[in-house]
Amino acid sequence: MSPELELTIAAAREAGELLRANYESDLVVDEMKAHDIKLDLDVKTQELITDRILATFPDHAIYGEEGIAGKLDSSSQWIVDPIDGTVNYFYGIPHFCVSIALREDGELKLGAIYDPMMDEMYAVDYEGPTTRNGKPVSPSNRAELKQAVVTIGFSKTKESMDAGLERYRNMAYQVRKTRMMGSAALALAYIACGRLDAYIEEQISIWDIAAGKLMVERGGGVVNLSPSTSSEDKSGIVAFNGKLPLDNIS
Ligand code: IPD
Ligand code: CA
Ligand code: CA
Repeated sequence: MSPELELTIAAAREAGELLRANYESDLVVDEMKAHDIKLDLDVKTQELITDRILATFPDHAIYGEEGIAGKLDSSSQWIVDPIDGTVNYFYGIPHFCVSIALREDGELKLGAIYDPMMDEMYAVDYEGPTTRNGKPVSPSNRAELKQAVVTIGFSKTKESMDAGLERYRNMAYQVRKTRMMGSAALALAYIACGRLDAYIEEQISIWDIAAGKLMVERGGGVVNLSPSTSSEDKSGIVAFNGKLPLDNIS
């Protein structure tokens, strides 16, 4: 394992332990919006990850949902989502994770996604397969929509929800089941290991998907990003196992 992935895994695990320790406790809310919640713990968890990474690589950059740090013009950028699934976390729904990826010269190289409640560590290194708790995993072979379980995200704005509802309507009739689970990163990890067959969302940010995108692609899955039709700095995503006929939907 590369030293960079070893550090990524250690930081993700430590961050996950912090989340587990605070799960279902009285949480400090920084911001409560119609369709989103920001916790003090989002910030604290990112600080922990930032400290661990910059202690080893002080010249690298941190690009996280909760802010930026380090040497911002570095070609080595760590893309961090300290809690992906904050609303689940706040409501005590045990489906959320820590996501950390390393991008070098604009290319995603490695990453880890840690689900602290399941104690599942998904990881992908510079080379080699995606692993879950150290064992190689791969996307499903399901090639027909009628066999597929597809998760659809609704993001946080009216526009993204409208787009999501339309996609949901189209998909629901064609697939075996649709699911809405509340963590983009885990949706991708689940495709990478064959639990889910596809994931569609209208507005996501790079920290939601950086590690998971690499995990899906490393196993032969497909992740298509397109400019979001409703927000300039976000992307739409269609991710799938590489077998389903989803290449041409955007
Ligand atoms: C959110 C989750 C959610 C997705 C949103 C994301 P957060 O991330 O991944 O599943 O629908 O688009 O922003 O806010 O919990 O880090
Ligand atoms: Ca997120
Ligand atoms: Ca987050």
